[in-house]
Amino acid sequence: KKFYVMLISFKEILLDACRHGYAVGAFNCLSIENVMGAIQAAEDLRSPIILQLAEIQFPYAPLEMMAPVFLKAAKGASVPVAVHLDHGLSYETCARAIGLGFGSVMFDGSGYPLEENIRQTRGVVRMAHAFGTNVEAELGRVGNAEEAAAPVPSTADVCTDVGEAVRYVEQTGADALAIAIGNMHGWYVATPQLNIARLKEIHARLNLPLVLHGGSGTSDADFKACIHHGIGKINVATALQVEITKEIRLYLSENDRPDYMEMKRRMTAATKHAVSKHILLFESDNRA
Ligand code: 13P
Repeated sequence: KKFYVMLISFKEILLDACRHGYAVGAFNCLSIENVMGAIQAAEDLRSPIILQLAEIQFPYAPLEMMAPVFLKAAKGASVPVAVHLDHGLSYETCARAIGLGFGSVMFDGSGYPLEENIRQTRGVVRMAHAFGTNVEAELGRVGNAEEAAAPVPSTADVCTDVGEAVRYVEQTGADALAIAIGNMHGWYVATPQLNIARLKEIHARLNLPLVLHGGSGTSDADFKACIHHGIGKINVATALQVEITKEIRLYLSENDRPDYMEMKRRMTAATKHAVSKHILLFESDNRA
């Protein structure tokens, strides 16, 4: 059994994905059960994966407590596992994650006007690269599906602009770019239709791995189009949480005297199930 005692480089696994037309799933893990289930799925399917935690999730899973769990799991796995900060909202948060040993960070300046996003992202990239850490950055607005009454039509004006993306990447030096093509975070009220034409245009102009956020609830057809046109990383959070809560609701409905250890076992199994499903959809199985 081969162990990855060194953390695998984020850029390395994404470049391999883009070169071969598959995507690596980046799963938001807020518990030991999530981490264990995700690693089990990746090992069983011989797939690289990314364990990640977003800054807005810190109240439920503090960064300093989760970092050793992520790193221990990644280094002990028999497949490549990257440890990534998702949606870092400031320079300081990115620096904290790098100090804790994360192999890559996302700086999310997408809420700022373009020039300010460029300025702040460039600062994070400069600092992160000094430590040998890769940076994912975001351009365009990925909305929140739970706040929207219907999926936002993926018409050109809500999507990442091609010219701006080229300038943004050139001026920031980011290693991967998260784009908006009609995708949203959270659970969609109806399946979105991603703007694959825009993805193709961005991919044709940019020579770096692209990232799709808000993976949960995307149609299989859109997932396939994404992985075959430059998306090398797909973020999935809500789908794991939904799978787990469904499983626990079923368990509690069938058991008058629920057992906590059994609940933990089921949470791990439900995570594994959801992660496995996405690994197969993203075609990253047997790529480890
Ligand atoms: P979902 O919760 O929609 O899967 O989005 C995950 C995500 O993009 C995390 O950054």
